[in-house]
Amino acid sequence: MASFHEKIEQNIGLMIILVILTVSVGGLVQITPLFFMHSTTEPVEGVKPYDPLRLTGRDVYVREGCYTCHSQMVRPFRAETERYGHYSLAGEFVYDRPFQWGSKRTGPDLARVGGRYSDEWHRVHLHNPRDVVPESIMPAYPWLATTQAGNGDIQAKMRALRTVGVPYSDEEIAAAPAALEGKTEMDAVVAYLQGLGTAVKFKR
Ligand code: HEC
Repeated sequence: MASFHEKIEQNIGLMIILVILTVSVGGLVQITPLFFMHSTTEPVEGVKPYDPLRLTGRDVYVREGCYTCHSQMVRPFRAETERYGHYSLAGEFVYDRPFQWGSKRTGPDLARVGGRYSDEWHRVHLHNPRDVVPESIMPAYPWLATTQAGNGDIQAKMRALRTVGVPYSDEEIAAAPAALEGKTEMDAVVAYLQGLGTAVKFKR
């Protein structure tokens, strides 16, 4: 008589069902606790929701695919913390929806790039990276400087984020369009970059 295991091996339908069951249980055991762990669901001290300009800059970052070359997560290894600063904490990303951890580092990690360069450096760099880093292979993004920031949907975006738990107040949402007035996408991206990784003050 065939053993139970042989039956599974010979019955692909049963095999599929059991594989799905095993993977689901394994996944739940790993993932469910994360939803209840304080350190992964609460912002660490100092972390605030993105203001309208930074939020707009973040969307430009996503639109332009910056994440295809840049990660935003410093791993807890000596080589990384020496280069980029303190390793990333889960609580730094609670308002990042979707998060921009990325998985590809053609360019440097950007999780702690905020404050490392001047605004002017970023403007020149984004306009044409070769002007400040001659050997750079990063693409140029000159249109950012001539495109108005936001396309009228900032309030809708903030309201949508509020439904998933980002604590924007009615006043903040009401004031949002004014914060984008006269700003370019370049202003927005630079504001976004300058804020990255700066919320938590680490001891040196
Ligand atoms: C094709 C890959 C690629 C893409 C896409 C890309 N970058 Fe880069 N980026 C690089 C490389 C390579 C460097 C390192 C050389 C340099 O500084 O230009 C870099 C450097 C940077 C730096 C300086 C980081 C540091 O610590 O010195 C910033 C800031 C930056 N990129 C932002 C952006 C933004 C914002 C976008 C999207 C608008 C973007 N990058 C898109 C490849 C890329």
